Amino acid sequence: MHSPVSLRHLLLSSVFVAPVLSAIFTNPNQLPCDTYDYVIIGGGTAGSVIANRLTEINSNKVLVLEAGPTDEGIIAATVPLLGPSLVPDTIYDWNYTTSAQPGLNGRTIKYNRGRLLGGSSTVNFMVYTRGSIDDFKKYASISGDEGWNWANMQKYITKHEKFMQPIDGLSTVGEYDPAVHPTNGVLGVSLPSDLTPLDSHLLNAIKEQSAEFPFNLDYNDGSVLGMGWVQSSIGDGVRSSSSSSYLHPVTSRPNLHVLVNAQVTKLLRTGTVGGKPSFHSVQFSTGPGGHSYTIKATKEIVLSAGTIGTPTILQLSGIGDSAQLQAVGIPPIVDLPSVGKNLTDHVILPNPFLVSGATYDSVFRNPAEFNASMLEWQTSKTGPLANGAANQLGFFRIPSNNTIFKKVQDPSHGPNSSHYEFIFSPFWVVPNVPTPPTGNFMSIASCLVAPTSRGFTRLASSSPWIAPIINPNFLSSDFDLTVLRESVKSFQRLMSAKAWNGYLIGPYGDLANLHTDALIDAYIRAQASTVYHPISTASMSPANAPWGVVTPDLKLKKVEGIRIVDASVLPAPPNGHTQAPVYLFAERAADLIKSSH
Ligand SMILES: Cc1cc2nc3c(=O)[nH]c(=O)nc-3n(C[C@H](O)[C@H](O)[C@H](O)COP(=O)(O)OP(=O)(O)OC[C@H]3O[C@@H](n4cnc5c(N)ncnc54)[C@H](O)[C@@H]3O)c2cc1C
Ligand SMILES: *[C@@H]1O[C@H](CO)[C@@H](O)[C@H](O)[C@H]1NC(C)=O
Ligand SMILES: *[C@@H]1O[C@H](CO)[C@@H](O)[C@H](O)[C@H]1NC(C)=O
Ligand SMILES: *[C@@H]1O[C@H](CO)[C@@H](O)[C@H](O)[C@H]1NC(C)=O
Ligand SMILES: *[C@@H]1O[C@H](CO)[C@@H](O)[C@H](O)[C@H]1NC(C)=O
Ligand SMILES: *[C@@H]1O[C@H](CO)[C@@H](O)[C@H](O)[C@H]1NC(C)=O
Repeated sequence: MHSPVSLRHLLLSSVFVAPVLSAIFTNPNQLPCDTYDYVIIGGGTAGSVIANRLTEINSNKVLVLEAGPTDEGIIAATVPLLGPSLVPDTIYDWNYTTSAQPGLNGRTIKYNRGRLLGGSSTVNFMVYTRGSIDDFKKYASISGDEGWNWANMQKYITKHEKFMQPIDGLSTVGEYDPAVHPTNGVLGVSLPSDLTPLDSHLLNAIKEQSAEFPFNLDYNDGSVLGMGWVQSSIGDGVRSSSSSSYLHPVTSRPNLHVLVNAQVTKLLRTGTVGGKPSFHSVQFSTGPGGHSYTIKATKEIVLSAGTIGTPTILQLSGIGDSAQLQAVGIPPIVDLPSVGKNLTDHVILPNPFLVSGATYDSVFRNPAEFNASMLEWQTSKTGPLANGAANQLGFFRIPSNNTIFKKVQDPSHGPNSSHYEFIFSPFWVVPNVPTPPTGNFMSIASCLVAPTSRGFTRLASSSPWIAPIINPNFLSSDFDLTVLRESVKSFQRLMSAKAWNGYLIGPYGDLANLHTDALIDAYIRAQASTVYHPISTASMSPANAPWGVVTPDLKLKKVEGIRIVDASVLPAPPNGHTQAPVYLFAERAADLIKSSH
């Protein structure tokens, strides 16, 4: 999705910046001390959870170091549907780009990551999916720690989630299962608050084709298969981010300090503990050429810089694949070859259709309508801008008799887990391609949920100011291409339902010509990109495994003093989007950290 340049400019300009309220340090010279019990690197999704939970204990002194600015006062970080305007290529983004992807016709892909308080939870699309029971079974079996299984993680769902009713009072009966949703947690989660004609047409289409597209009352009950209503990290018409939910409400605690504009450049070895190199010092700077500051963490350094940031910091510190570090002039200190490897991501195939009913395109296209919607949001927190990017999504499997299974073992996490996902949006959603000047659109994002491709991230240079080489190796396996091809045939069947009559005009652009496998494959390679769900670059594994980066309790292997808590430790891709698993991992990680000190 993309808003016109003028609108983007307006949103990012001072017109929509409100005064900053809470005390967050912006300059290193304001820091009252240079020694803390815990130093958390990255005030993002996981980092803000850890900061909140560790400072529940009064005696813990905690510092959060965040490379980007505060998220306070940024209107697009608050108005749900405007979130996507915060990236790419803004002061709130790391501006990463992948290396040329052979599986995508050699294209490079923008690889957005939030660079401000709340991290990617402040800029994401807010789709809220916990994943399947089988995902958590997988996390437990890969790591050898039953603490990660679905049953044990329920208590963290209870602590974390605050399920709320939509602000406009729309009935939610039949749209979710209240029995599986706690209402006393921290992060506001809700069902859609704004409908368009897409909703009823889609619900009727799946009724007509219920054998292939069964209705799923609640994909967050652990059984993901089927089509259902989207739950979003939105509460009372406002984005719920990790910073708005976990961090800002506790910045008044005297034992929590937060410093923004502080980019960590290196972790420093401070000695040897129990025969292992110990790391208790963190070096950071405010920018290239800026002064270097050093801060001590007496108990632990908690690395929460995300799937790209975390391995990058480790590598800059001499922790990683020694040969690769030497090649860029970094002296290796700890040989951990899995750092930065096994980068795993979901793939999106955006599919726009022309329709005749009302959509959100005009909101983004027409300044008067935008202003009216903005006024409605400011007045009552309702209307299209209060809604997420999608009202329905579903998870599906390719047929079990597909010939690909003669060559490849099914990588899905079980017979109740999916290979692909559909997300339906009532407007033009094609990443980084502007909405055409005319036409009303609906979009189906068809996403690869169970990818077999694996990539890497590694240093391009020994300088912390030069972006790493990021190579997700998108669509580098037959299986991955097969799933997306089958997904196209699947939505072509769905879109042939009679229920679309009177609404659907037809597939837009090249999507209209997909009559053979070869044409579908060419379309996929030309159009696919990322769902922004990279994981696994600091994967957990059993303590004694020869691979992996952290133990099942998320301690950095071969080292004393460092814990990793963010999406990089997820050992396998979830059935859905990554924010909820990251939040739940962080909630359990906070307990693990508390119980070891
Ligand atoms: C555009 C976009 C859309 C998405 N949509 C969805 C969605 O709809 N649903 C969903 O579930 N997931 C979505 N995701 C993915 C989800 O948001 C992420 O998986 C999740 O937020 C990652 O959390 P994290 O804690 O690992 O990293 P982050 O939240 O990215 O936090 C990392 C933090 O560390 C900071 N940092 C990094 N390096 C340094 C350093 N050297 N020094 C100091 N600070 C540093 C960063 O600035 C950032 O604040 C989306 C992501 C993006 C980018
Ligand atoms: C990302 O790009 C924007 C726009 O060019 C720029 O202002 C910002 O500083 C860049 N961010 C980083 C981390 O380089
Ligand atoms: C990648 O992950 C798999 C397990 O999913 C593991 O067997 C393999 O050793 C890992 N590779 C690296 C380089 O860490
Ligand atoms: C919309 O609002 C902006 C900012 O308040 C203003 O500059 C602009 O003139 C308005 N446009 C229209 C068409 O009302
Ligand atoms: C798979 O099974 C379906 C339904 O039984 C059948 O229509 C289809 O032809 C089969 N496909 C293959 C590749 O055997
Ligand atoms: C799949 O789900 C069904 C229905 O919930 C359940 O009966 C079955 O045991 C599940 N299968 C596995 C392998 O988990």
